[in-house]
Parts: sequence; C-alpha cells; structure tokens
Amino acid sequence: MFQNINVNINQEVATVTIDRPKAMNALNTEVLQELLVAFDQLGKDDEVRAIILTGAGKAFVAGADIGQMHKLTAIEGRKMMQLGHKVMHLMESTEKPIIAAVNGYALGGGCELSMACDIRIASENAKFGQPEVGLGIIPGFGGTQRLSRLVGKGMAKYLIMTGDIIDSQEAYRIGLVEKVTPADQLMDEALKIAKTIASKAPIAVATAKTVINKGYDLDLISACQLEIEGFTAGFSSEDKAEGMGAFLEKRKAQFKNK
Ligand code: CAA
Repeated sequence: MFQNINVNINQEVATVTIDRPKAMNALNTEVLQELLVAFDQLGKDDEVRAIILTGAGKAFVAGADIGQMHKLTAIEGRKMMQLGHKVMHLMESTEKPIIAAVNGYALGGGCELSMACDIRIASENAKFGQPEVGLGIIPGFGGTQRLSRLVGKGMAKYLIMTGDIIDSQEAYRIGLVEKVTPADQLMDEALKIAKTIASKAPIAVATAKTVINKGYDLDLISACQLEIEGFTAGFSSEDKAEGMGAFLEKRKAQFKNK
C-alpha cells in the first residue's frame, strides 16, 4: 500500500519506518502523503496503543526533499509546507503517543518531524540540525516554533541562524531529546518505552498528551482549567475504577480503554 514507508503493528505497538534510502529518507510530497494516511489510520486503530517513528538506514530523515523543492514555485513550495504542517499537526492531535527513535541524521524537516513526536530518543550516532539558512530558506515544517518551545528561544535562534549540526549528546543536553542509547539498543529502548506507555490507561495517556499539548500555549490559569477538565474525564472512566481498584486489591490493572 505504501511505497516509501513501512508500517508494522505488533502487540499494541505500531512502528512506522520511513524507507527512502536513495534520498536519505528525505520528505517529498509522496512521503508526506503516506505519513498522513498512516497516522490517520493508526490514530483510529483501537489495537494500537503507541507508535514508534524511525528511519531505515543511516538517516532518520535528512530533511525535506531538496531536489523536489528546487523545482517548485513559491506557491507550490507553500503548498508543500502546508502539507508538512498538516502531517505534524495530525501527529500532535492524534491521541496515540508517538515516540521518535532517531537512528541517524535528523536534519531540517527531519528534526521538525521528530519534534512533532511526543518523546524523542536518539542513538549515539544521531545528528540534529536545522540547516535551512544555508539553502536560502528558513525551516518550513514548524521548526521555528517547535524548536523554540522545546529548547528555548536563544538556543533555537542559535541552531537555526548558524545551521550548526549537533550530536545526540548535545541534543540531550539542550533538551531536544529525552534519552540517548547505543545504536544497537535504540529500537529495543523505543519498544520498552512504547510498551510501558501501552500498559497504562489509554484514556489517561491520551488526555495527558492533549492537555500538555493544548495547555502549553495557553496562559497558566486556562491551562490548569484544561487539566481539571481532563482529570474529570479520566475520573469518569471505567479504567479509573480498574486502576485504583487494582492498586487497592494489590493486582495488576487490566485497562479496557473505556
Ligand atoms: N533532499 C534530497 N536528497 C537528499 C537530501 C535531501 N534533504 N539529503 C540527502 N539527499 C540525497 C543526496 O542528494 C544523495 O543523493 P545522490 O546519491 O543521488 O547524490 C543521497 O541522499 C546521499 O546523500 P550524501 O551523498 O550527501 O550523503 P552524506 O553521507 O555525504 O551526507 C547528509 C549526509 C549530511 C545528510 C547530507 O546528505 C545533507 O547535508 N543533506 C541535506 C540536509 C539538509 O540540508 N536538510 C534540510 C533540507 S531543507 C528542509 O528540510 C526545509 C524544511 O524545513 C521543511
């Protein structure tokens, strides 16, 4: 069904692998369309409790496709960026948690794609950067906004204005990634995190994602109100009765997503 990505679902965890080796998994409109379809389908799939996003080969994603963009008019380029934003908004608005397992280069649109995930873990050999100014453009898939929200305005300006490429230890130090692993342990670690999340109450996990994402851009009082509403929604779920009941009965909770 897909030409540039692989989707594999195993025991509640879906793994989406971008696999376009001839261009280091660069995001052209075809890849973006496929990601849009895949995240839409996975978002609606009750069997899926967590998603891992990674890249095949030595790149996570080396950016938006420069070969394609070089040929586009400004209006076409705008449309391509709108498509990219649509993908990243969908990733943020789907209730399923998404973990980026960054296996190599995450540059430009690749770094932006990782930032639209909920959690980023990186292999020791991963590299991050927003090199767009060297191509005569600025980041176009949300980099100016998501990078500053993750690492602060000053560091975002430093990275975007210099186009510097940083390694995963530096990305960890500045808060761009949550964990660094040896390369051969990356997918095991991503799976471990995905399974841990998948074992928790799905409604609670989904609500936490929504409240954190939506609340981040609100004033504190409005954001805390959002938390109260989310908390109340969880409180009325069957999974709340199960989670608290299991604790009190000293057994493992069996959540039903209800
Ligand atoms: N778009 C299209 N093709 C790309 C690509 C990209 N972003 N990145 C790599 N490729 C292609 C190369 O052109 C090359 O193709 P050929 O074999 O046909 O020549 C192939 O992938 C392998 O790449 P290299 O030979 O360059 O491999 P390397 O190991 O020497 O270098 C690299 C790897 C550092 C990632 C280098 O390829 C590179 O700098 N890529 C571009 C990174 C970049 O500038 N990304 C930002 C793009 S703009 C953007 O993303 C805008 C936005 O915000 C949405």
